[in-house]
Amino acid sequence: MNRTPAAAHTLNRIQKAAVDLGIDLENLPAHVAVIMDGNGRWARKKGLQRLLGHREGYKTLRGVLLDASELGIRYLTVYAFSAENWRRPKEEVDGLMVLIERAAKDELRTMHQNNVRVQVAGRIDEVPEGLRKALEHGIETTKDNTGITFTLAINYGGRAEIVDAIKEIVAQGVPAGQITEETVAAHLYNPETPEPDLMIRTAGEMRWSNFLIWQSAYCELFVTDTTWPEFGSKDLLSAVHTYQSRTRKFGAVVE
Ligand code: FPP
Repeated sequence: MNRTPAAAHTLNRIQKAAVDLGIDLENLPAHVAVIMDGNGRWARKKGLQRLLGHREGYKTLRGVLLDASELGIRYLTVYAFSAENWRRPKEEVDGLMVLIERAAKDELRTMHQNNVRVQVAGRIDEVPEGLRKALEHGIETTKDNTGITFTLAINYGGRAEIVDAIKEIVAQGVPAGQITEETVAAHLYNPETPEPDLMIRTAGEMRWSNFLIWQSAYCELFVTDTTWPEFGSKDLLSAVHTYQSRTRKFGAVVE
């Protein structure tokens, strides 16, 4: 649907840029998931420590959350720390935990003012207590917000999520014959969140890396060589534009 010129003045900065690129604001992906890769490579290129790459990645994430929210995307999910990331050097793991805890505390007021609803996905009971409490406080404070839902995947693994769902189903005594795809979907970490329509991966790797593997069965993948610290508004718009140029078939034939 084309917006009339009369409505054009109500568009914000990012919506105007989107329309200029030919993006249809009525057909945005409802849920965008992001594998934020390349912080380490960005740091190495600059001769900096890896943690400085993550710190720069945090700045990028602030911008992307704001852009996505202003554009009108309803759900943004980011892979902040995978269940496999514990294998990294202790110094990097500790540094990431501190960075995410500080971000959760420092950004809460801004997120709340911007009507952002915060969620987490992952085995949160296994992360350091300070981070867990900061996340729980953020979730509780923003739970009634009606703007974008921002999901932080922390200590998250797609296979672990499916295992956790199966454990719940078994614990509830659901007979095997009654288990359907809907049963499994209803026991994932955030069952009311729609499946991602678009998955963005930065830094060029063509891998899924165990991220939202159940929910991504039909999502469109956009991979860019740009590293996460370098990713900006124009890259997000380019991903959305590419998404809109694809024909989603969900296994059917589309004429
Ligand atoms: C992957 O880059 C990135 C991560 C494992 C961590 C993502 C974390 C952030 C963006 C920091 C801030 C997050 C929050 C929620 C405040 P990599 O280290 O694997 O990069 P490389 O492949 O180039 O080494």
